[in-house]
Amino acid sequence: MKTFTFLIGLSLCCKFSVYSRKIIDLSYDFGPKSISWPGNPPFNLSHLLIGKQPGGFWLEKNWFSSNEHRGTHIDAPAHFYFGSLHIHQIPLDNLIGPGIVIRATKEANENNDFVMNKDFILNWEAENGQIPHGAIILLDFDWARRYLTFDENIIFGTKTVNDVSSYHYPGIGPDAMTYLVKEKHIKAIGTDATSPDAGQAVDFPSHRICGRYNTTIIENVANLASMPIKGSTVFLAAIKLKGGSGVPARVFAILDDDSCNMAATNIMSSSLLTIMIVFSIVNYFSGIL
Ligand SMILES: *[C@@H]1O[C@H](CO)[C@@H](O)[C@H](O)[C@H]1NC(C)=O
Ligand SMILES: *[C@@H]1O[C@H](CO)[C@@H](O)[C@H](O)[C@H]1NC(C)=O
Repeated sequence: MKTFTFLIGLSLCCKFSVYSRKIIDLSYDFGPKSISWPGNPPFNLSHLLIGKQPGGFWLEKNWFSSNEHRGTHIDAPAHFYFGSLHIHQIPLDNLIGPGIVIRATKEANENNDFVMNKDFILNWEAENGQIPHGAIILLDFDWARRYLTFDENIIFGTKTVNDVSSYHYPGIGPDAMTYLVKEKHIKAIGTDATSPDAGQAVDFPSHRICGRYNTTIIENVANLASMPIKGSTVFLAAIKLKGGSGVPARVFAILDDDSCNMAATNIMSSSLLTIMIVFSIVNYFSGIL
């Protein structure tokens, strides 16, 4: 009986543990090698002060400067649509949402100009269920392999990176984009490639649709291969850059724990749980001693 109570206590402990939830980092390191559209001034991180101070303690502080649209970053709706939201105006609620990963790794590998259309999304829904309203969509084109080469030619799919008309990388088409923003009211759309508009798209149609419907874009998303297609909450942790058209972000996902829901994380249940565990342990060992 006492062993039984102990085991119940232990299993509850596992069941309600919030600390065991898996967090997936969806960002690359942000630095001089981070990829951005050609033609930007160089990234600069330099020491303003570094070393042991007269007081005997260590001090390091740096200066950095960067373009907004570099590495893993978000695009504000204002980036491609006049009058739409700038970075500081994006409601926090739009930066947190259920993660939906749509994989087209095979398609993108077979055809670097792959453009995801509305039928592809409808098929995804037929197989995996409806995309919930307010989702953050992440497109997995298996482009992380290319990003990690830090070679612009490989990432943009070209031999002449200064010629934008020569780019070959996958994206999402305007019919699919319109469906997601107008019918699914998605909060954001991310891609592991460099832009949601494919390399061969003309005049950035999907960027413009997102801008018009106040949908945030995330570019150069990392680690999508580690993500479940659903069952996560995605966070777009970006600084509140006043007037920004984009800003580097620490994007991450917390996976749902099947045996544990958010309600279990409140203080009430954790203190109750602590009491139960202590009780079970004392109960168990008082039998042995
Ligand atoms: C980087 O910034 C520092 C501090 O402003 C400056 O002294 C340095 O010249 C800059 N370097 C480049 C390459 O722009
Ligand atoms: C987008 O946001 C702007 C600024 O808040 C607002 O004026 C506009 O109506 C919004 N557009 C849509 C389609 O919700």
